[in-house]
Amino acid sequence: MKITFSALSIPKKGSAVVLAGKDNKLGIIAQGLDESSDGALTRAMKAAKFKAEQGNFLEILAPAHLKLDRIIIAGISSDEELSLHDWERFGGGLHGRLAACKSEAVTLVLESAGDDDKVSSQAIARAIHGAVLRSYRFDRYKGEIKGGDKKKKDKKQGDKNSKLPDSMAVQCEKTADVRKAYSALDGLGSGVFVARDLVNEPANILYPLEFAARAKKLTKLGVKVEVLSEKQMEKLGMHALLGVGMGSVRDSALVVMQWNGGPKTQKPIAFVGKGVTFDTGGISIKPGAGMGDMKGDMGGAGCVTGLMHALAARKAKANVIGVIALAENMPDAAAQRPGDVVTSMSGQTIEILNTDAEGRLVLADALWYTQKRFKPQFMINLATLTGAILVALGQEHAGLFSNNDELSQRITDAGLTTGEKVWRMPLGAEYDKMIDCDIANMKNIGGRYAGSITAAQFLQRFVNDVPWAHLDIAGTAMNSPKSEINRSWASGYGVRLLNQLVADHYEK
Ligand code: BES
Ligand code: ZN
Ligand code: ZN
Repeated sequence: MKITFSALSIPKKGSAVVLAGKDNKLGIIAQGLDESSDGALTRAMKAAKFKAEQGNFLEILAPAHLKLDRIIIAGISSDEELSLHDWERFGGGLHGRLAACKSEAVTLVLESAGDDDKVSSQAIARAIHGAVLRSYRFDRYKGEIKGGDKKKKDKKQGDKNSKLPDSMAVQCEKTADVRKAYSALDGLGSGVFVARDLVNEPANILYPLEFAARAKKLTKLGVKVEVLSEKQMEKLGMHALLGVGMGSVRDSALVVMQWNGGPKTQKPIAFVGKGVTFDTGGISIKPGAGMGDMKGDMGGAGCVTGLMHALAARKAKANVIGVIALAENMPDAAAQRPGDVVTSMSGQTIEILNTDAEGRLVLADALWYTQKRFKPQFMINLATLTGAILVALGQEHAGLFSNNDELSQRITDAGLTTGEKVWRMPLGAEYDKMIDCDIANMKNIGGRYAGSITAAQFLQRFVNDVPWAHLDIAGTAMNSPKSEINRSWASGYGVRLLNQLVADHYEK
């Protein structure tokens, strides 16, 4: 979506959006429109018993004496101070409203509404960011029938998938400040889109090496990208990761991304993502119902790639490593079997009792490799790791597991700021025992209970003393409930969360 910024003036054509604050008070431009239209705005608000609260909109069509198609009055009042995320949701809701009425030339008049002096430059930038996030659609496979009637297709698919408005002219008081505040969010928005695209992409298109090729595109933004082949991984002894891809005709890969935006002497921070481009379960095959969702089993890797994009695009002043472990989990004659024992890069051996518990296997080697090679300040991994986290937390929170209270608190706070919430879950020796094994150092599944925790305990066995956090995003990355800022199956969860974490604590 194209966004332009300019000073306040009376909008002349298309659709105009104005704000209404406490007690339906309007700003100066909105009052001007009201006066020129014989009080259309105040009369409409009265007639509709409109109450200016966040999320309330009122549409006035063809207002008298004006050339405008419509004026939308958007409520912003709230008893409490609106948070930046509230502003994002406001912008998202507004975009939804504009799309519903198929508005094309849209002018947003974002002036302080009456006594409501809460419309800061940051707030405006966040509102635009929210609208942009909402505008996302994944429609690249809605093709035309060869030789078919193009008009017919547009009519059938046009409404539901409308990307309108595709541009917004934003009017505000401090244009330079807003432009500056928005420029960082622009990169963040594209990072979220990168993650959503990757997760939405079907698995016949996005197999491990194709994913790696997409990650390579970050080179253009100044990110250093290396792709480790199966051969290289074999040399490193990554048999936990390699075992997962054995049943697939597609090669596995490990991608290492580096963004060096901080001082040379600064230790990097590291993000590691599970990138199982499709998870059939392998020989421990999953039931058919819902298996299609497993194209999203690379949500962790999608987030890490989107985050690296965002950080590079906004030139974050931090040294950041992104590592993604890519494999496809398929059943085949060459696939690993339940009962197999593999040796991980760390030297620890694993008895594979269920080939569907594969995420922890690819992460085991990726975490070990990251900690050994980069000695980071911290490691955070993201993974659509367990169905059990959905049972525990639903789709509201990602599960957070960590060996470090400070890191945990920082992630939790970033979650509250961005609305990408996390909920801390326990770790402990008693849970760890549940993956002890008679014939190897550990088995890859625990018992019937505490499935998300035993999965986290497994990961922790591949982390030494480095501060570490694991986010189980099986409930938040895909199959997402529609929200004000996302209508797509993939949410891009984690990009905004971790971008906030970096911005709040790790940029100097
Ligand atoms: N990719 C799945 C977890 C998952 C489930 C992600 C639902 C998104 C939505 C993971 O690889 C898996 O299959 N986990 C098993 C582990 C079990 C075999 C110990 C699970 O959760 O059932
Ligand atoms: Zn699985
Ligand atoms: Zn999986």
